[in-house]
Amino acid sequence: MHLDSTASDLAYQSGFGNEFSSEALPGALPVGQNSPQKAPYGLYAELFSGTAFTMARGEARRTWLYRIRPSANHSAFVKLERQIAGGPLGDVTPNRLRWNPLQIPAEPTDLLDGLVRMVANANPDKPAGISVYHYCANRSMQRVFFNADGEWLIVPQLGRLRIATELGVLELAPLEIAVLPRGLKFRVELLDPQARGYIAENHGAPLRLPDLGPIGSNGLANPRDFLSPVARYENLAQPTTLVQKFLGELWGCELGHSPLDVVAWHGNNVPYKYDLRRFNTLGTVSFDHPDPSIFTVLTSPTSVHGLANLDFVIFPPRWMVAENTFRPPWFHRNLMNEYMGLIQGAYDAKAEGFVPGGASLHSCMSAHGPDGETCTKAINAELQPAKIDNTMAFMFETSQVLRPSRFALDCPQLQTDYDACWASLPVTFDPTRR
Ligand SMILES: [Fe+2]
Repeated sequence: MHLDSTASDLAYQSGFGNEFSSEALPGALPVGQNSPQKAPYGLYAELFSGTAFTMARGEARRTWLYRIRPSANHSAFVKLERQIAGGPLGDVTPNRLRWNPLQIPAEPTDLLDGLVRMVANANPDKPAGISVYHYCANRSMQRVFFNADGEWLIVPQLGRLRIATELGVLELAPLEIAVLPRGLKFRVELLDPQARGYIAENHGAPLRLPDLGPIGSNGLANPRDFLSPVARYENLAQPTTLVQKFLGELWGCELGHSPLDVVAWHGNNVPYKYDLRRFNTLGTVSFDHPDPSIFTVLTSPTSVHGLANLDFVIFPPRWMVAENTFRPPWFHRNLMNEYMGLIQGAYDAKAEGFVPGGASLHSCMSAHGPDGETCTKAINAELQPAKIDNTMAFMFETSQVLRPSRFALDCPQLQTDYDACWASLPVTFDPTRR
């Protein structure tokens, strides 16, 4: 393998939504214009758009790429025999569902082969909604992939990943997340023998930081903690399979070169990573339990103000100090649909059954909250300041009902007794005792 890149693999640029720029060879970025007649070093200029051209300036995403060969230099894509696992969407169910972790296969499996669609609320041809996948892998991708159907939010639960993208390299470990823009070409390599995690595919508006309102100008996920890569290119004349997902189906073509050949770039349509441990967690210092929106890391809005297409929410380690308060997440029924996962430790609403790598689905207006054991303990607890530690649960929250895939409804990991965790809730009502 011959790499010409002179930039370090692991340098990052910090900030969110910035107009970043990076060059792996000095002077590779044209000065003062985007598409000169002759770009430096004989490179081709190519525009990579993440939003419509006429999008409001504050929301527009695009990056200019300076590459060895234009992306147009490829043969026809052919539909692949092996498609993404999970099957078509199954029947709609209002029931609460919970899954144990998927097992990592014994046979060689890269991230694409190990991708399983669990739930979705949109066809990929609609510019809204999300699809949720789990992945299990035990080897690096030997091919390069891009997703025409949406941006990917990757949440590793097990194993570190090295994601080589057109714009440079991101290394990712559990407790970090990465977001890869729609259409970005990348190759996921494993830095550990096994990898498992979750992916939210966002078909709607690109993820952004939530507004902070009365919180002010600091707090939650701070912009400086988001890291984007620096330019790094592969000048490789070797056969490479390029795979794309287009309206849910995988198509491939054979190239005679690496498509990760961008020598310089500038723009804001970029991949980025974020360490969830840097989230500045806020909460009550008096009584009661704030809405979980206080834990929103990233959001994809809809045209209705306050109604998210996707909220990415985490439940990190934090101090619990509320007085005279039922401290676990309260019992609730929501408009929004909640798909939860667990990266490590335990989640404070469940005594057991929700384990790292597992998942749960609570759909619109389905009643849920702490299980019987957690509830009884919380009612009778002597309240002292206490820290919830060694935990990281998260939620993909979306405004449209999520339908489980055929796989999700039929797999042995689906728990058949989830409802039972609320069966032991005691009746403590006594009309003679106020
Ligand atoms: Fe909930």
